[in-house]
Amino acid sequence: MRLRTQLNLAFTTLLVVILTVTGFVTYSLIMDMLIDKEETQLKQKGEILIDILNREYGSIRSVNEFQEFLQSQDGELILYNRTEETVLFSTMSVDNTRQFYEKGYFNNYSDELWDGTSQKYVTARIVRQPNNSGTELILLTPIRDLQAVQSSFFNRLLIVFLIGGALAILLSYFLTNRLVKPLTMLKNELKKVEKRRFDDLERVNATGEIKEVEQSLFDMANELKNYMQSQQVFFQNASHELKTPLMTIQGYAEGIKEGVFEGKERDQGLETMVEEINRLKKIINEIIWLAKLESEELPYEREWIESKTLLNEVHNRMLPLAEKEGIHFGVKQVKEFRLYVDHEKFLQAVLNIAVNAIRHADSKVEVSFKDSQIVIEDDGNGIPKDLIPYIFNRFVKGKGGETGLGLAIARTIIEQSQGSIKVEQSSLGGARFVIELVGTKN
Ligand SMILES: Nc1ncnc2c1ncn2[C@@H]1O[C@H](COP(=O)(O)OP(=O)(O)OP(=O)(O)O)[C@@H](O)[C@H]1O
Ligand SMILES: [Mg+2]
Repeated sequence: MRLRTQLNLAFTTLLVVILTVTGFVTYSLIMDMLIDKEETQLKQKGEILIDILNREYGSIRSVNEFQEFLQSQDGELILYNRTEETVLFSTMSVDNTRQFYEKGYFNNYSDELWDGTSQKYVTARIVRQPNNSGTELILLTPIRDLQAVQSSFFNRLLIVFLIGGALAILLSYFLTNRLVKPLTMLKNELKKVEKRRFDDLERVNATGEIKEVEQSLFDMANELKNYMQSQQVFFQNASHELKTPLMTIQGYAEGIKEGVFEGKERDQGLETMVEEINRLKKIINEIIWLAKLESEELPYEREWIESKTLLNEVHNRMLPLAEKEGIHFGVKQVKEFRLYVDHEKFLQAVLNIAVNAIRHADSKVEVSFKDSQIVIEDDGNGIPKDLIPYIFNRFVKGKGGETGLGLAIARTIIEQSQGSIKVEQSSLGGARFVIELVGTKN
């Protein structure tokens, strides 16, 4: 069922339930109120009547005159003598009066509703002064009269409910429409993402939670687009990187086979082939490692390590290469801290950056650990400005580069440690790589 129909149905059901309950409660309350009011009115009327009776007929001069007066009054009434337990006068039918008598209403002062032969009556009883006269005036109103008032009130209530309900349902329809419209539009945008038509995506006007979903959808689409583009670039670059050494190997192998290269040239060719095969092996191994890192096939096992330990390891591993290249490799610990990382992998990331620094430095490389920051800088030529935004992408390399995977691997590991890496111009003249970590302890 469509969301719009569901919402409208839910709202209409709720409205009908509320109106029914309200109607039912009001209907029953109204009757109680009408009975109360009728009783009060009967009492007031009765008191006036008693007053007139007391004044005009203080001493009963003529029974006929007295009864004529009572007969001339509107509504039903009974004159009852308590001491003698007799009905002196009644406008009610004899059957009704008898039934009241039999049901003991005359002696029961708590019953306000008297059950007659065909219907109930609301009653009010007023004692005629002086009390010892024992005469009591009982006024009665048939409940049917009150039921008529109740029905007419209820009919009006029903009309108000029907009009109000119809308006509310109409309003709910417009509101749900407003709510559901952006969702329908979002669904269409999602379909575009599904078909990878990223350039056709359009922003949807929405508010609140739907706006958040819309934002997430667009972030997700962008992420997916970038990922797909980077995958495409990766395959292009990877095939290019693999093709070049393969072509060299193929050239030499065919040349040697056909006897084009002989003697010294043949040896040279074989040496180049071995070098290229090693390069291919390195590229393939790095690609596999990177793929494993990203697919989480290699579990990233974090532990707490001392910055001093890591710094010593970097120093010890890099010293031979630095000496060989004639580079001064300086390390300094500004402030000690502890890192929560996968020890082996994180060391690999720092080494990848350090190897680059030594390779591109003129005379020195400096590594410094401070707070949650690791800085590796050199005095080489630095990274060309136009390469900086892509330098951490796979197979991106500059002058004197090798496979262009070292920094991509480093970034993947650092991001898995909830850290970030950036590159900038060093005051030493070359590149300055800054690793920023979260979750470190002093
Ligand atoms: N300290 C640096 N100074 C100048 N250029 C650098 C520096 N570090 C990296 N680069 C440039 O960035 C490129 C990418 O480095 P990356 O480590 O990813 O690949 P690589 O060193 O070429 O190959 P490998 O995969 O073997 O590390 C390098 O080719 C180089 O041009
Ligand atoms: Mg490198």
